[in-house]
Amino acid sequence: MSSKVSIAQNTETTAKLRCISCAANPDSAAQDFRCTACGDLLEFSFPGWSFDPAALKSLWRNRRTSREALDQSGVWRFRELLPHIPNLEEHAITLREGNTPLYSLPRCARVAGVESLRAKHQGMNPTASFKDTGMTFAASAAHHAGLRWVACASTGNTSASMAAYAARGNMHSLVLIPEGKISWGKLSQSLDYGALTCQLRTDFDGCVSILNQLVRQKPVYLLNSVNPYRIEGQKTAAIELMEQLAWEPPDHIIVPGGNLGNSSAIGKALLEMQELKLISRLPKLSIIQAQGANPFYRSVREFGGKRLEPMTADTQATAIRIGNPASWKKALRVLEATGGEVEEVSEVEIAAAKAEIGADGIGCEPASAVTLAGLKKLRQRGFVKRDEAVILILTGHLLKDPDFTIKFHRGDLFAGTAEEAESERAKSLQRAPVELEANLGAVIAALEAAERNS
Ligand code: F0G
Repeated sequence: MSSKVSIAQNTETTAKLRCISCAANPDSAAQDFRCTACGDLLEFSFPGWSFDPAALKSLWRNRRTSREALDQSGVWRFRELLPHIPNLEEHAITLREGNTPLYSLPRCARVAGVESLRAKHQGMNPTASFKDTGMTFAASAAHHAGLRWVACASTGNTSASMAAYAARGNMHSLVLIPEGKISWGKLSQSLDYGALTCQLRTDFDGCVSILNQLVRQKPVYLLNSVNPYRIEGQKTAAIELMEQLAWEPPDHIIVPGGNLGNSSAIGKALLEMQELKLISRLPKLSIIQAQGANPFYRSVREFGGKRLEPMTADTQATAIRIGNPASWKKALRVLEATGGEVEEVSEVEIAAAKAEIGADGIGCEPASAVTLAGLKKLRQRGFVKRDEAVILILTGHLLKDPDFTIKFHRGDLFAGTAEEAESERAKSLQRAPVELEANLGAVIAALEAAERNS
């Protein structure tokens, strides 16, 4: 980190842990990353940090031509804004994560009624979800701490990512996932990366509760997003986004909300970038939940953010099937600080939005599609204006959950469910495979029929 010295105006900057509720400043975190005084979450703060913004931007730009692994990572390239991990060369575990593209979504823009719509596709990370940006950093911290075992509860993406980074760092990994409620694609990743994968007969929230008890008894390092290192790594998605936008913030950033670590991280980065004068104004950060897994939406709308009532969550967007989100207070803070909104979207709205993002040639997993579905609602309500610049954060790759996609296009996704009637609205987006005899005439007839309907 020698570069830090040359651009930091105050070279004394060190990261400090701070409780988000009682402002305690512990020197180190307990196994469950909860404040020992009040039980709330911890976060990193950087008292007194100060940089020359122009020098920082140019340093980060120059690193893109470097051959060093850490400079090639879209996370470690921004390491000046992350806590310092000693002996980084020895402990950093990187798969060159980050560096994700920003795509325009012209068809989706028309559907949503906005002039400028782009997506930052975090599904283009090494394990195909945004989790890699936080995992590279937190797994490296675990490696530095000399841990043998790392563990997480997951709806599938955290576990896939953790298993990969643990394997790269020669650590063992323990995965707790709800049986039958995560996609096969995600499950297969953690198996291949060699994790001890336990399918528990409960939901995500049940897995979290068992893991919290386990880490108090066994020397395993918790890698869920209550681990503040995860949040720090995930901040870099927002930093990279601003760099891609030539440091000209959009009007809106829209993210899915599950356990609410990602929205907290992106919001933290925005506030820090404003504080450091890397950006001159804040985009509004809005958070979208599935209607069947909407405890944060209800907290804000019904209780003014004063409390959150846990619920039993249910949605086919299994990544965000979460009823008791750990980071809700952090997310509430960034929602309020940026002037963002919350929305909830139905199962049919999610499926339609996913197909629309696919039709722009991009694609994403169901949980990511809540962003477009939510944008449509925010636009209808007038919160987003036609001429405002909007960025959707797509969190996972289309191939994470092919079952959902195939069922949707075959017309099976809502068969026999309460949404069957509503799903008629999405029929025009379905592109079921056409089964034909193996002869040229049949294919030509299909082609001509498609041409007539196009
Ligand atoms: N999108 C995807 C694809 C996810 O996997 C998740 C969370 C979210 C959105 C929500 O992000 O939790 O930070 O609010 N997945 C976690 C997991 C819970 O275990 O993979 P969040």
